[in-house]
Amino acid sequence: MSVSDTGAVRLTDHRTQGATPPATQPGASALSDEKSPPAVRLTDVSKAYRTGRGELLALDCVSLSVGTGEFVCIIGASGCGKSTLLNLVAGLDRPTSGTVETGGRRVGLMFQEPALFPWLTAARNIELALRARGVPRQARRDLTRELLLTVRLGGFGDKRPHELSGGMRQRVAMARALALDADVLLMDEPFGALDAMTRDLLHDELERICAERTLTVLFVTHNVREAVRLGDRVVVLSSRPGKVIAEYPVPRHGPRRIDSAEVAQLAATLTDRLREEMGRHGH
Ligand SMILES: Nc1ncnc2c1ncn2[C@@H]1O[C@H](COP(=O)(O)OP(=O)(O)OP(=O)(O)O)[C@@H](O)[C@H]1O
Ligand SMILES: [Mg+2]
Repeated sequence: MSVSDTGAVRLTDHRTQGATPPATQPGASALSDEKSPPAVRLTDVSKAYRTGRGELLALDCVSLSVGTGEFVCIIGASGCGKSTLLNLVAGLDRPTSGTVETGGRRVGLMFQEPALFPWLTAARNIELALRARGVPRQARRDLTRELLLTVRLGGFGDKRPHELSGGMRQRVAMARALALDADVLLMDEPFGALDAMTRDLLHDELERICAERTLTVLFVTHNVREAVRLGDRVVVLSSRPGKVIAEYPVPRHGPRRIDSAEVAQLAATLTDRLREEMGRHGH
């Protein structure tokens, strides 16, 4: 399928002030100047669920392109269709209309709960993903060791999930997602249940891993600061049915801290935008 030029048209955003970058037109990728085709492309995607009380429209004509190596965060009210969107990209479900393209890339999915097999050790949980990929036994052992080191769990391969902290379990889940050798990582509030310090550490880990592997990431969160800390771009969805209502590129001036003034400023703009949207829908 041909890739059209999505020239990033900048809108004047009357709500933004100072150094906060303006919102770009929904659907326009921050990386749209680059020649490589997007790693993920949703075109006019709608999803309706059949329920006992008729059809429920979860997503309404969502168009979104994510460039290779880009980190896009998605925020929006509860029930606006964020998980639905990730499920569609993962191929776990089909859109009612519109197209989802990943160009045959391998897609890994990570949820809020680590969803590990409790009777298997951390290493075996990771090995299972390698086995599913058809990696031979000896190579599985070596790769598992490497992956445990990548997520800084070198000495914990023989522990079962209940012997690990919440942050450690999420790291095992991250290693398992990486074991799929995914080009695209879909993360659905993966750090939502963690304490702030563990979450900050995992932000650093994730940033490092993404840079090492040129991962493309779609990351859902309710935490606007987390979205600004991690994202190259933050996409705001409307309340249900989810539509892209704003996109904010996040300028990078060196390492970002979640408690920096720079992050706080854009996070405040995003919070205002979300509040306005939720107010319109009586949340
Ligand atoms: N399998 C399903 N069948 C029927 N309705 C569904 C199904 N999955 C999701 N929905 C509905 O679709 C809407 C979007 O759900 P979704 O889980 O995508 O929201 P979300 O943005 O991820 O919410 P949250 O932030 O609470 O996780 C909700 O109204 C939900 O009830
Ligand atoms: Mg969800």
